[in-house]
Amino acid sequence: MGSHPQYDVFADEFLDHARECFYNAHYDRPACLELLGEVSGRRVLDVACGPGLYAEALVARGAGVIGLDHSPRMIELCRQRVPSGEFHVHDLADPLDQLPDDSVDQVLFALALEYVDDRTALLRELRRVLRPDGMLVLSRPHPTGDWLRHGGSYFDARVIEEVWSQGWRVRCWLAPLERTCEELHHAGFLIERLVEPRPTAEAAAINRASYERLSSEPTGFLAIRAVPDPRR
Ligand SMILES: C[S@@+](CC[C@H](N)C(=O)[O-])C[C@H]1O[C@@H](n2cnc3c(N)ncnc32)[C@H](O)[C@@H]1O
Repeated sequence: MGSHPQYDVFADEFLDHARECFYNAHYDRPACLELLGEVSGRRVLDVACGPGLYAEALVARGAGVIGLDHSPRMIELCRQRVPSGEFHVHDLADPLDQLPDDSVDQVLFALALEYVDDRTALLRELRRVLRPDGMLVLSRPHPTGDWLRHGGSYFDARVIEEVWSQGWRVRCWLAPLERTCEELHHAGFLIERLVEPRPTAEAAAINRASYERLSSEPTGFLAIRAVPDPRR
């Protein structure tokens, strides 16, 4: 992926977009927050925290939040949005040296797995900092949707470049579902739940076409709850 924080130039636009938009507010966030469950009194690590929309929701539910993101502007936005949180600029290509073993109760890693080259190394780090009774919740683009959009071999993990409708240019990994499951396994996690979310009922009023498509096609995101494997 390289060391350039690719979201930095459009961090403010991303915040305006993701605050209320269909995909984030009415599809991904409800699914991941549901998988996280009770967070009150827990210490949650928000990995690739973006502009702090998840952090805001977690703090509102009583969690203490530590957020990490590669983009300095995203971290500024988090600090403005969630003054009680602890936020750091951090490239997920690097180890999480600032966090001791077993130091967080839950890890959230929403919509950013696809920006990391060595995903197993990162997931191992997340396993290390997570308490043995903790959980990791991650979301990623649904691999079927990726394959339908980009073609080629479904099984071939590769980096592609996309220009989104807002004009944002992003490079990310395409990888089959099996690859994500294998990476979690090699990092010492057991998958507890895998969810193919449907948009919330309110989302129908925002964008009827997207609502109908994502209610019937696997072309959006998926979400996984994984727990540390006690045998490893
Ligand atoms: C699609 S946004 C998701 C933000 C947030 N998790 C959410 O769902 O609202 C992807 C985020 O990943 C961050 N990111 C991408 N590559 C990263 C890296 N190597 N290290 C840390 N953060 C990274 C970007 O800066 C951006 O904030």
